[in-house]
Amino acid sequence: MRRLLGMRPPLAPDRLLRRLVGERVLGPDTPGREAPSSRVVEAESEGMTPVQVRGLRKAFGTTVAVDGMDLDVCPGEVVGFLGPNGAGKTTVLRVLTGSLRATAGSVSVLGLDPFRQAAAAHQDIGYLPGDLRLPPHLTAAQLLDVCAGRRRDPGADRAALVAALGLPLDVEVAALSKGNRQKVGIVAALMSRPAVLLLDEPTSGLDPLAQEVLEGLVRAAADRGAAVLLSSHVLREVDQVADRVVMLRSGRVVASSGLDELRATAPHAVEVVLEGPGDRLLHVPGLRGLTTAGPRMSFTVPRESLGALVTALAAEQVQDLSIAPADLETLFRHLYEGS
Ligand SMILES: Nc1ncnc2c1ncn2[C@@H]1O[C@H](COP(=O)(O)OP(=O)(O)OP(=O)(O)O)[C@@H](O)[C@H]1O
Ligand SMILES: [Mg+2]
Repeated sequence: MRRLLGMRPPLAPDRLLRRLVGERVLGPDTPGREAPSSRVVEAESEGMTPVQVRGLRKAFGTTVAVDGMDLDVCPGEVVGFLGPNGAGKTTVLRVLTGSLRATAGSVSVLGLDPFRQAAAAHQDIGYLPGDLRLPPHLTAAQLLDVCAGRRRDPGADRAALVAALGLPLDVEVAALSKGNRQKVGIVAALMSRPAVLLLDEPTSGLDPLAQEVLEGLVRAAADRGAAVLLSSHVLREVDQVADRVVMLRSGRVVASSGLDELRATAPHAVEVVLEGPGDRLLHVPGLRGLTTAGPRMSFTVPRESLGALVTALAAEQVQDLSIAPADLETLFRHLYEGS
């Protein structure tokens, strides 16, 4: 059944580890290892972005998880991958790592098909799964040693990452706290300076300080040229690290926009205290999220309705008023709600 659904069977610990470090078990037709820089240059010279998705469709039986998706992630770019639970984010990331096969459409990572050329593609992919499972009886240090021995780059940044995240190295994975297990996965994903980083809810379980450290590490990876696709429900984190957001709903891209562009088009948050009931305000086009607390009304209006808002306010007895561009979190919420 799993095969029918395009899934692979559960991985034994050793295979699990290989998957974690971005390395599939090598087959007889495994292509040779190549430096990431040559891969990036090669892919770019062919007019391809490091992560390219075209018309991707992925169905599990009758459930369509991804329904015709296009996506590009450029070198040095962090794309925040948003969407409600079940939208298809993890499925896309798993197709990009080659652990799931596309039902239709195509994906390429560094110019390679990650399913058919997994071993070569995984040389340069740092992947942090959303459901991180680690072999329980290795210490963090042993686990990272195994990872290091299998990567093209043995982990130039390992010591710095361990120090930055405060990861205890000599504790068995089974005895690590959830957040510290997550840090093992983060170090494993980042330590070899991969050209492509695929991070599925990377701050899950991290304390606020570690979240901040991770945000800095992700930005640093992008600044040295990595293409980063990061799924998250933590809107503040996306605001901090992403250059662009792609929002998926029911397997389809419903919004794709630069963060600066989003900020520039953000609706305005209005707080007003009126003497009367303020019914006229309710007719301002695009008014959303109305809440009232006594005489105080709070809501948002799109920029293009500011004129209509002023006209409506002019006919009211206004006691107090503030109008400011909505913060990004409010904007994201509107996207989630389907505006
Ligand atoms: N292995 C599977 N077998 C069957 N259905 C699956 C499988 N994996 C995912 N799905 C379905 O595909 C859809 C997309 O799931 P996916 O995990 O990609 O969503 P998501 O956007 O990552 O959600 P979340 O924010 O909760 O992590 C859901 O309807 C889910 O139930
Ligand atoms: Mg998910």
